[in-house]
This record gives sequence, C-alpha cells and structure tokens, in this order.
Amino acid sequence: MSLELRGITKRFGALVANDAIDLKVERGEIHAILGENGAGKSTLMNIVYGLLTADSGEILVDGKVQDIREPSDALAAGIGMVHQHFMLVPVFTVAENIVLGHEKSKRNGTLDLDTARAEIKRVSDEFGFEVDPDAIIEELPVGVQQRVEIIRALIYDARVLILDEPTAVLTPQETDELLKIMQKLADRGTSIIFITHKLREVKIAADKITIIRRGKVVGTAEPSASQDELASLMVGRPVILNPDKAPHTIGDVILAVKDVVIKDPTGRAIVKDVSFEVRAGEVLAIAGVQGNGQSELAQAMINLEEHIEGSIKLGDDEIVGKSVKHALADGIAFVPESRELDGIIASFSIAENFILDRHDLAPYAKGISMFPKVVESQALKDAAEFDVRLQSVNDPISSLSGGNKQKVVLARELSRPVRLIVASQPTRGLDVGSIEFVHERILAERDQGRAVLLFSTELDEVLALADRIAVMYRGEILAIVPSTVSAQELGLLMAGVTNG
Ligand SMILES: Nc1ncnc2c1ncn2[C@@H]1O[C@H](COP(=O)(O)OP(=O)(O)OP(=O)(O)O)[C@@H](O)[C@H]1O
Ligand SMILES: [Mg+2]
Repeated sequence: MSLELRGITKRFGALVANDAIDLKVERGEIHAILGENGAGKSTLMNIVYGLLTADSGEILVDGKVQDIREPSDALAAGIGMVHQHFMLVPVFTVAENIVLGHEKSKRNGTLDLDTARAEIKRVSDEFGFEVDPDAIIEELPVGVQQRVEIIRALIYDARVLILDEPTAVLTPQETDELLKIMQKLADRGTSIIFITHKLREVKIAADKITIIRRGKVVGTAEPSASQDELASLMVGRPVILNPDKAPHTIGDVILAVKDVVIKDPTGRAIVKDVSFEVRAGEVLAIAGVQGNGQSELAQAMINLEEHIEGSIKLGDDEIVGKSVKHALADGIAFVPESRELDGIIASFSIAENFILDRHDLAPYAKGISMFPKVVESQALKDAAEFDVRLQSVNDPISSLSGGNKQKVVLARELSRPVRLIVASQPTRGLDVGSIEFVHERILAERDQGRAVLLFSTELDEVLALADRIAVMYRGEILAIVPSTVSAQELGLLMAGVTNG
C-alpha cells in the first residue's frame, strides 16, 4: 500500500507546525523522516493517524483520498502507529491489551481473548517475535512491550506502519532487532515511516529520507549520504558529532560512594557493594546494558530510592537517610532518566518547569509571595540559551515537542551553581544539533571544576564525554577503565566478560 500526503498544514495558534507538507511513501518502503526537535514530525504523524486534524491538505492511500478523523479511521484505512509513549495498560496481559485496543478496525470488528491469543501466535510465528499472550505488560522489557504494539498494529491489518522514535528507549541490541523486524515487514510489503534522531539507524534501515525543518520539507537525501551531510541538512549548519575534550585538571573528591547496596521492596539487592569516587573536574560515566542497576544507582544519588545501605557523601555531607530536597539543596543537579516521570510536571507552564525545585526561593519568591515576572524572565533567558522552541513560556509544558521538554530539564539542571551533576540519558530524544550543544555544555561544566556522574546506554556518548568509565553488570561495578578503552573492549565488559 502506498501513502501520500498532499499539502498538509497544521497551526497551533500563530505557530505553523506543518506547512504544506508533501510526502509519498511507496509500498514496502522504509521512509525515514529527519528533523530538529520541534520540526513538526510527531504532529504530522498524529495527523496521519487521526489523533490531530489538519487545517488543510489530503491523505491518500493507494491514490484514494481518505477521511481520517480518529485512529479508528486510520486503522480502517490500513494505517497503524506505535507511539513514543506506549499506550498499553501496564497491569493487563498482552492479549487483553490487544482486545482492549478501542481503536477497533472496522474490517476485523471485535476480537475475543481466544481469537486474540491465536492472532498473537500467528503474527509472532510469522515474524519470530517471542511474545507470550498471557504475560503481564509491566513485567516485560521495554523492547518486548514495543513488539506488542507492533503486533497489535499487524493484527488490525496495518499495511502502513508509523514508528515515532521507536529506538529512543531501546538498548543497542533491541534496536538492532527492531531494525531487522522493520526490514522483514518491508520485504512483505508493509510501508514504514521511521522517525529517529540516530543517523546510524537511518543509514542502516532507510530506503528514502525526507528532511523537515520548521514545519517544511526542506529536502530529501539518499541513505548513502554521510552522517555529517545528514546532520547539516537537518540543522542547517555543520554539526560536530565528536567534541574535543580539553585536558582536565582534577581537584578534590566531590562524590564518594562507599559499599552501597540498594534493595527492591522484596529485599533483593539490585545494586551490590558499589564503591567509587568522582573528583572535581572529571566526568565518570557509568556504562552498562539497561537493567543492570544503573537506574537505581542514579536515583540513589538524590535519595529517590527507598532501601539504600552504605554511604554516599557529597564533600563531607552524608546523603543517605536524608530527603531528596536535602540532596538537591546540597548542590546536586539531577537529570532524570525519564523526563515524563521525574523531570517535569506536565500541567505546569514551561516557565514554572524551568524553576521547579527553586520556586519557593529567592529571587522567585519571598515568604508566600511569588514573583511571576522574575520567573518569566529567567525562563526566557534559559529558553534562548538552550534553544527551546516554544511560543510562550506561559504555555503548558505538555505543548512542547519531546526533545524540547528534555531541553527544559537540561536548562534547569545545568544552569544552577552545583558541585555535582548527575545526568541519566541526558540527550535522549534530542536532535544532533542539540546533542552537540549539551555535550559541549557538560564538558564546560567539567572544565569549570564540577564533578559529573553520567549514566548513558549510548556508547558514543560515553566515549565522547567520559574521563573514566565504570561498567556495571548485574548490580556490580565490573571494572573502571580509562576513556581510551576501545569500543570493542567496552562492549565485552558490558556483556560481563572480563579478562581473567
Ligand atoms: N498541542 C499543541 N499545542 C501547541 N503547540 C504544539 C502542540 N503540539 C505541538 N506543538 C508545537 O508544534 C511544533 C512541532 O512539534 P512536534 O511535536 O511535531 O515536533 P517533533 O518534530 O516531533 O520534535 P521532537 O524531535 O522533539 O519530537 C513544536 O513547536 C510544538 O511546540
Ligand atoms: Mg516528536
């Protein structure tokens, strides 16, 4: 099936999020869409899937104009979508979620649980997905949850599949598996629209590339184009993909983690006897395959975990046993792994989100008086510095694109005077231009004598920023190696392989 968009235009107030966009995706083609944060990619896809309505323009399937007003219309037309934030009910089983899909396709009518089980099995066998229809969603790894969304789309007979940043939350292994699945689907005639900020993936998977900037299609590129070429087409200027690190001067120990054990509510140790130090002026990266205790260790740095044993000292101050507020006030900047869960408050304005943890302090407030003008001018300054694409700082933060929300969190955390920066997946969802900026900024903080503790599953990021790399495996730190380590050796350590 082919999909064609003609002259799609969408405005939000004064902002033209999509400006007369034309796009054609042929049958069996993987069509990548590249564009900066806020370029209008998700908006366009939400229109095709019926979650938003265009102000003007047409959507054609196999040359026929479709009237798509809601997701059920899109599914009936053979268009499915996997969202960046999965739309599954966590406490339900795979089969229940598939039946629940209230976006029933008219073609299939209602599904009962047994039919759903059989359909899940049929699709799983066909594509080699190993998905148990009776597994509970929240107990499945993210990569498998995503497969459930793909299975759902296939069961409802989607022949055009939209994937909006599907790899942002996947491990490198899961990403490679997804790319293979996409290829298989395309070989069988499914057309795929693939949105990603990772140029490597575009080069591996895409047959065609369309580039969007500020709501307009600005060009197309071949997958043979180099990453540098793609980056500058996207951002409109050359991008430095690998920043230079200045030689660093190491100072005192800022963070001392000693014999830390973190337990889950059942008493099982997720982090086991971890000890390390981070000094002023250095970046220590914690690398590892997701799920080896890094998330819990990161959260423990500001007391976001319940059961912490051992000692975490910032200078001379013990953090363990105190509150989150205490840890932050003590001089820790914290970029959480999940901006949606821990980084922002969706119903608050952009301006309020820029100062979340400081809203009750000078210069923003005194006693019970708030000073909105001060809050607003600080927000305008931060937004300009971090290139947050917004209309008004008084809009709710939920109106921002994914990458721009992430920039608000980064601006808030990287622009206050602290001793230690703890950053988890800081560039998740950012476009290449913004990654360049954030990487330079983190290195500048290091050069000014802050200690940086970086948690990242992106090897490129770890190698670009770290002075030393601690590899976590099954809750332990297997080794701490200098950043001159080869990517191959690092990969082996992450898989739990040590020499000797
Ligand atoms: N509901 C809304 N109300 C107001 N503005 C919106 C709304 N939804 C999106 N926008 C604006 O439309 C523009 C395009 O956003 P969109 O989410 O499509 O970007 P994107 O290309 O997907 O970016 P990212 O790479 O960060 O995900 C942004 O400036 C965003 O702030
Ligand atoms: Mg988006």
